[in-house]
Amino acid sequence: MSDGSSFSITTPIFYVNDVPHIGHAYTEVAADFTARWHRQRGDDTWLLTGTDEHGQKILRTASANDVSPKEWADRLVTDAWKPLLDTVDVANDDFIRTTDERHERGVTAFLQKLYDDGYIYAGEFEGFYCVGCEEYKQPSDLVPGTGAYEGQQVCAIHSIPVEVLAERNYFFRMSDFEQRLLDLYESNPEFIQPESVRNEIISFVKQGLRDLSISRSSFDWGIQIPWDHDHVLYVWFDALLNYVTALGYGSDDDEAFQRLWPSVHIVGKDIARFHAVIWPAMLMAADLPVPKRVFGHGWLLVGGEKMSKSKLTGIAPSEITDTFGSDAFRYYFLRAVTFGQDGNFSWEDISARYAADLANGFGNLASRLVAMLQKYFDGAVPTRGALTASDEAIDALAVSVTERADAAVEAFAPHEAIAAVWELVDALNGYITEQEPWALAKDDAQRERLGTVLTTALRGLGTVNVLVSPVMPKATEKLWASIGAGGSVAEQRVDRAWEWQGAETVVPLGSGLFPRIEQQPEQGAA
Ligand code: ME8
Ligand code: MG
Repeated sequence: MSDGSSFSITTPIFYVNDVPHIGHAYTEVAADFTARWHRQRGDDTWLLTGTDEHGQKILRTASANDVSPKEWADRLVTDAWKPLLDTVDVANDDFIRTTDERHERGVTAFLQKLYDDGYIYAGEFEGFYCVGCEEYKQPSDLVPGTGAYEGQQVCAIHSIPVEVLAERNYFFRMSDFEQRLLDLYESNPEFIQPESVRNEIISFVKQGLRDLSISRSSFDWGIQIPWDHDHVLYVWFDALLNYVTALGYGSDDDEAFQRLWPSVHIVGKDIARFHAVIWPAMLMAADLPVPKRVFGHGWLLVGGEKMSKSKLTGIAPSEITDTFGSDAFRYYFLRAVTFGQDGNFSWEDISARYAADLANGFGNLASRLVAMLQKYFDGAVPTRGALTASDEAIDALAVSVTERADAAVEAFAPHEAIAAVWELVDALNGYITEQEPWALAKDDAQRERLGTVLTTALRGLGTVNVLVSPVMPKATEKLWASIGAGGSVAEQRVDRAWEWQGAETVVPLGSGLFPRIEQQPEQGAA
């Protein structure tokens, strides 16, 4: 049990060069699910998300659209990135933009401290730069281009040519932290997860770290270097600091920072290196605690390739939620993708899961149980009589599923948590089929047995409902209004979900939780 501990979790802050696709929504949902779970086990929980607005990529996009970068960012934040949170039902506690004054103030304070303490120096640099990644590349990061880029070396992630940049820059003494980083990975094996990402990062750092170029003078869309106004800060150095500036680092009021830092970072594996190498090195230089954990999840693939806007394979989250709803979106991606591995998205797969797991599995269980309680007991929840082995097995499974789900969330395995809950869904459907309450109802002598069966099943359904409320906030709230004891399902404890927390009287559900979908979605993008 973790009453009262603080749990602060973040998503990456996303580039506003373009609108979100389901890859971004996936990260949001994974972080939001984890945050909701922790809130419902009594932790002092904080979910931070936001947008990354400086740098060349945004500047170029804005110029191409004939607006200033700030106007462009404002437009994308208002029209696309904040609405995404509604589309997939994210209950974030804060939204930080790197153009926020609070962020710029904190970044400036941080930079000045590192400069004063001798961690930043001026030097010359030349290298291959990928604007897609906003990162200098090693020759080994490049692959031969194809099509229009035949004969050129291109970024392996973005498939676009790199540019040769030569600048007099400021450098961060990242090489000083090589051994301390390796010690951190060694002494805290859970710092980077999953194992595959951890191994990749350890071998990267073991090859040797070079100092990091952290300023640019060829354009000015960024935070000024406080001691040299001809330079702006490298966009990644700027962006990573959002995790502490959002909590008040560098301001007069850093109560939230003291209470909530260090955080857990959920990111895609594409940017795990920035979070597990550069970021802890920056924090070490500033004498601040390193993050609690960096989890690099896998990529959503379309047709076997990483979904991306730059490759025009992006699917807008609303294309899915318009048909299936936000609950099913959240359920599908958390359940069907092993967290930490890549997952292929397909319309057939989400349609099949929707029908089998949600409409027929959970939805049908809820509606037939509530209907039987109405029909046979006018909605009054009967008291249980003597329990049989089958009843006791349901009660025991509810306890075991609760414990296993909680442990799975702790281990960042939402797919396992949900799979555990579905053992109970399936067991309850099997129990009802086996106990045949409709047959018991025909025999007055079986009245007590009928009540025991329906109440045992209802208690199990209540457990399911509380456990999946962080996954599907809307459907579970609706079911709670029917079977709950008032308040919101979001206030119920997930770690005690096996206790009956529900009502003495159930009220009709009205329409089903997961209506059948008649219309197949447009199958354009996948
Ligand atoms: O990298 N599958 O922003 P970004 C799964 N601004 N997740 C995906 C995905 C896919 N196909 N595509 C994108 C940046 N993502 C920086 C971050 S943080 C201080 C700065 C998700 O807009 C995933 O979380 O390129 C990935 O790491 C992130 O979007 C990259 O978002
Ligand atoms: Mg990207």
